[in-house]
Amino acid sequence: MPFFLSKNNFLERLITIMSETIVLTGDRPTGPLHIGHYFGSLINRRELAKQHRTFIMLADVQALTDNWDNPQKVRDNVYEVLADNLALGLDLDNVTLYIQSQIPQIAELTVFFSNLVTINRLKRNPTVKAEIEQKSEKFGEDGVSLTYGFLGYPVSQAADILSLQSNLIPVGEDQLPMIEQTREIATKFNRIYGEVFELPKELLSTGSRIIGLDGNAKMSKSLNNCIYLRDSAEETIKKLIKAKTDSIEGISYNPEFRPEVSNLVKLYALCSEQSIEAVLPELESMRTGDFKMKLAESMNDYFAEFRAKRAEIFADKAYLQEVLEKGKREALERAEQTMQKVRQAMKIDY
Ligand code: TRP
Repeated sequence: MPFFLSKNNFLERLITIMSETIVLTGDRPTGPLHIGHYFGSLINRRELAKQHRTFIMLADVQALTDNWDNPQKVRDNVYEVLADNLALGLDLDNVTLYIQSQIPQIAELTVFFSNLVTINRLKRNPTVKAEIEQKSEKFGEDGVSLTYGFLGYPVSQAADILSLQSNLIPVGEDQLPMIEQTREIATKFNRIYGEVFELPKELLSTGSRIIGLDGNAKMSKSLNNCIYLRDSAEETIKKLIKAKTDSIEGISYNPEFRPEVSNLVKLYALCSEQSIEAVLPELESMRTGDFKMKLAESMNDYFAEFRAKRAEIFADKAYLQEVLEKGKREALERAEQTMQKVRQAMKIDY
């Protein structure tokens, strides 16, 4: 059947043409962003923001679901993550940066959505499941001390996404279950209360995956294996000198057998803006220590401008506050428009 005869296909095309792309991404402010974030998602975020209306949410409410006992850490890192994002040089006419807790409509929508999700479904979310296991010091062995808030954060994330009627969500692999669940919630809402939500799509990251300097699968603050975007040139050198390698002679790229060295080679290629194949010949016969110094130099050159800008922005508290005020206004307006539709559909528009 030609596409114009298929009603569904036609409607789908019409919706695609009519709806503007609205990008939403969120960062949990639990630590300053590091070079893993930078090469994994921030560079893509900057490109995407040049093409589409973009919202970047500082997910403080979500960060509190496993940091409720450390609110100062979350508050401090809101400003760190804000500065990390601003140093990318985003066009603030097109980009809205805002704090999740400043938008009470998200909390309101979370409550309504919580009726549309079963506890069993939440327990099956693979990302949440893995996190509960990892955080046994918080949630106990077998999750005996699991909180309602943590188990339910995918519902709150659905509210993050749908409150702004965003439809394109750039994510890493681990966030796919959240987008899937968001679509389920939106579908159920639309079926029960009437069409309010467009179903959001994920944009799977094409960024480079960087592992920790200790060889751990992820750079993470708690493992102390990161180079932060705010780190100085000296700190970068110190951290790279201490980075884990192996006792094999020479430098080569083989992520399976030499994960740590290969990670450093990848970083060298990224920082010198060349392919891995192109950089290998000059590295192959180097001693590990010399290679590390070469990498440090290249990394320090690459981030010099970014770091200077970030330091300037971070020091300017009035500017940070101004950006957040603007972000709050813009996000509030859009979220309130959504909530008026939601309250009407749910017959609670008294
Ligand atoms: N869960 C995301 C993370 O851990 C952060 C996040 C919160 C998010 N709300 C979001 C991402 C909405 C995308 C859309 O990285």
